[in-house]
Amino acid sequence: MASYAAYAASPAITDAVKSRQGSYKEIGGAFKSINDEIKSGAPDMNSVRPLARDIAARAALMPKFFPKGSGPESGLKTRAKSEIWKDNATFVKLQGEMITHARALNAAATSGNAAGLSAARTALGNTCKSCHDRFRAEI
Ligand code: HEC
Repeated sequence: MASYAAYAASPAITDAVKSRQGSYKEIGGAFKSINDEIKSGAPDMNSVRPLARDIAARAALMPKFFPKGSGPESGLKTRAKSEIWKDNATFVKLQGEMITHARALNAAATSGNAAGLSAARTALGNTCKSCHDRFRAEI
């Protein structure tokens, strides 16, 4: 095999990219399931609760998974745009909004508040979209 050593990303960078992609994938699946429950008109809170808890826990960890050097320049397969580090304040603000809305989603699920769940879902969904539009590359 040819040696790519000179270009290889460090283990810490590789781990961060894998962690964020794996976590976003879980968040995406959980969020879709919650949306399906809401669409049904009578969300089953027993199904929703662990999903909302998982999203909130993962959202809180996400800021750790974007170290400098883990963008396109890493040579890894990633859709993270270099704008994340050029306009880091905006990115960090969106991460904070995600954490806030995910907490609200979790709180509504825990208390069985369907209207609150729906409102938090909409706010969270808007945050996913804002960040992807600006900071995630198309495939
Ligand atoms: C602060 C910015 C930000 C927010 C908020 C955000 N994302 Fe993302 N998301 C990204 C970036 C950047 C990537 C690309 C990561 C990579 O490829 O390294 C991504 C990737 C993904 C992926 C693809 C994962 C994979 O590689 O298979 C999914 C699914 C996803 N996000 C879902 C969501 C959902 C659902 C929400 C909201 C609940 C959300 N994201 C909120 C920035 C964000």
